[in-house]
Amino acid sequence: MYSHFDLARLQAQSLKMQGWIRQQTFSPEHAKTLRRFSSWEVGELIFKVNQSTLRGRMAADPSLPQGITEEDGRQRWYTLDEINAIRRRLKVNRKSLLPYRPANTRAVRVAIANFKGGAGKSTVALHFAHAAALDGYRVLVVDFDPQATLSHSMGLTDVEEEYTVWGIMARDLTRETDRMNSAPVGAESGTSLPQRSLPASITDMGLGELRVTDFIRPTCWSTIDIVPSCANAAFVEFASAQYRHLNPEWSFFAAVSRYLDALPDDSYDLILFDCPPAIGYQSMNAVFAADMLYIPSGPGYWEYDSTTSFIGQLAEALEDLSRFSNLVPSGTLALPKAFRDVRFLLTRFEPGNELHRAMRSAFFKVFDDRMTEHPIEMTRAVEQSGRFLSSVYEIDYRDMTRETWRRARASFDRAYDEFKGHMTTAWQAMEAEA
Ligand SMILES: Nc1ncnc2c1ncn2[C@@H]1O[C@H](COP(=O)(O)OP(=O)(O)O)[C@@H](O)[C@H]1O
Ligand SMILES: [Mg+2]
Repeated sequence: MYSHFDLARLQAQSLKMQGWIRQQTFSPEHAKTLRRFSSWEVGELIFKVNQSTLRGRMAADPSLPQGITEEDGRQRWYTLDEINAIRRRLKVNRKSLLPYRPANTRAVRVAIANFKGGAGKSTVALHFAHAAALDGYRVLVVDFDPQATLSHSMGLTDVEEEYTVWGIMARDLTRETDRMNSAPVGAESGTSLPQRSLPASITDMGLGELRVTDFIRPTCWSTIDIVPSCANAAFVEFASAQYRHLNPEWSFFAAVSRYLDALPDDSYDLILFDCPPAIGYQSMNAVFAADMLYIPSGPGYWEYDSTTSFIGQLAEALEDLSRFSNLVPSGTLALPKAFRDVRFLLTRFEPGNELHRAMRSAFFKVFDDRMTEHPIEMTRAVEQSGRFLSSVYEIDYRDMTRETWRRARASFDRAYDEFKGHMTTAWQAMEAEA
């Protein structure tokens, strides 16, 4: 017979070894780094200008970053920072290379959600983040999934749960409870309320003292930051239920939204949420904070099935929030939650597979104009390479069959371009309302 005592003993044993195992499998040289990009990539794929035009312009102005030449010859190789410096300074045919960004608006927030594991959420989040960064955008990704696939992919290995979405939620609980306790009696729900108190286990963590930026970590992409996750943050689902009990009027689902509102508007252009494979406190926070909902799904029948049940349950969960509408100060959050856009995106699609094609038409019949035009194709180019999962943008095309790389990259590029179109529309609407 085994009880929680035995599980706790096993965990203590495992914790003792954890440091040693990490040491054995990790050294600073193994830290994730970002490669350089060739003049071919910078011209044709990143700036989308003719390669020789770009070469000419670069040669004409030696004050522009010149990259380095590698042993194999003519190509020059540029870092992301060099690419961004060129982007700021160079105009081609009098056109700026900077991407569209309306002034006086905050970043567009996009949740990539579906409660089916393996739907491709983390892969889509990783690739959209990288594609957007190569496009010149400043990106923040928030990993809501304690499986931490995205955090690991982005090279983060030593994350403590205080500095995850869990920490953001617990911090919000202490701050919101303080705010409610000091609000004039009766101002919020129309009745006089007893003071709400939180146990020392929460207040003693000192999370209320953390600054907004304390939760944000840099990645090896200089224009991508992350609020990471870690396995211990799985506890959040359980803890959040207890927290709600401590202060039933706490709008728990709006914690991350409030947190992001505290960032200066121009810190980022795009904020991407990678969601856990469940509807729970964390994914409700992601969904609630999102302007746009992107729902990836594999092209199989069961995936169609679970996507259908996902949107049903999400609808119910969102409807449930309406009871908070008179519990929060007016004007602080709008209920019911409304998205500027909702899109379905097929992933792991094989164009030659008859079943996939049939499922794709079925998805179109059902979801109609909510379906994205370009699915993400199944590819070998996103498999684990070395210690970290790498995106096709990170993999050097010289390290694999060029055709496989090109094809995978083209598929992600098309999906990203389409995404960018929707993001731009949402942004313009946000600007118009500002
Ligand atoms: N387009 C793709 N081609 C090939 N493999 C893919 C593709 N998208 C996802 N995968 C693989 O499928 C698995 C699940 O993908 P992941 O993005 O982690 O899903 P989720 O985050 O929804 O659980 C991973 O092993 C991933 O490498
Ligand atoms: Mg995932």
